[in-house]
Amino acid sequence: MKSFKITALIFSVFLFIFFIYGISVVKAQTSNSVNAMKIIKAKGCLSCHTINGSGGSAGPNLSKEGASGHSIHWLKVQIANPGKHFPGSIMPQFNLKPKQLEEVAGYLASLK
Ligand code: HEC
Repeated sequence: MKSFKITALIFSVFLFIFFIYGISVVKAQTSNSVNAMKIIKAKGCLSCHTINGSGGSAGPNLSKEGASGHSIHWLKVQIANPGKHFPGSIMPQFNLKPKQLEEVAGYLASLK
């Protein structure tokens, strides 16, 4: 009976750790997408692109960009140098900091 109690205790401790870990992962993900959306708004991407219902239509709708099969690398190149993929593109080059580029590309890749 005693060993059962110890096992139950250890099990609960593990459950608790996983619970806290889960919360921190979810929090990190939401703060990432909030950050990415801030950058996207600040840079004016929405003047040409629609994301989740709001934005312009000069460029393709990005609400499901993650389902396009484009890699994070492809997305980074697209933002930094759209002319590489679409010569003569009206999309301007955006000079984001590496961390911002990472966040925006990661966020777009998560939209499915
Ligand atoms: C002046 C309008 C304009 C702005 C501003 C703009 N884009 Fe674009 N974007 C386009 C157009 C147009 C395309 C389609 C490719 C082409 O024909 O040049 C495109 C394509 C893309 C694509 C590729 C979509 C696909 O799957 O083919 C991504 C990703 C993208 N833009 C992200 C962004 C992000 C992020 C920003 C802001 C940092 C941004 N764009 C700002 C016009 C714009």
